[in-house]
Amino acid sequence: MATFILHINQTSREVDVDPQMPLLWVIRDFLGLTGTKYGCGIAQCGACTVHLDGKAVRSCSIPMSAVGAKNITTIEGLSPNGQHALQRAWQQEDVPQCGYCQAGQIMTAAAFLEQQPHPTDDDITRAMSGNLCRCGTYLRIHAAIKRAASQTTTP
Ligand code: FES
Ligand code: FES
Repeated sequence: MATFILHINQTSREVDVDPQMPLLWVIRDFLGLTGTKYGCGIAQCGACTVHLDGKAVRSCSIPMSAVGAKNITTIEGLSPNGQHALQRAWQQEDVPQCGYCQAGQIMTAAAFLEQQPHPTDDDITRAMSGNLCRCGTYLRIHAAIKRAASQTTTP
């Protein structure tokens, strides 16, 4: 066991865990942030996606020892009031079906739009290709990302 100070969603939290424990377990079971989901556990589905220093990563496959002082953002911390452009677009396009994959989808899309605020259709398809949805909401996800991108201003 080891003590870690996690910088997560603009706060600091201390946890005492095995350094090999995946970040996802800590987020859900120790910090109670259950918006981030467990899907495959082997970095193949994207359900567990969070941001580490703004980059989308698969928290099921990142051991605590690799997190260090990086800033972690989960779906709960994406915006203070649930009003991130993607969260609004998700509602407007009525994207989710069962909902299980959706936090991971939004977190992947958010990191992507930060890097590429005005993507083409192909850009969106490529960026989201690693996030699986058993309910097949892909077309609505795509539409919501386009809608959110259209609402961002050109720098
Ligand atoms: S649960 Fe992490 S990628 Fe599937
Ligand atoms: S909405 Fe059900 S898995 Fe994506």
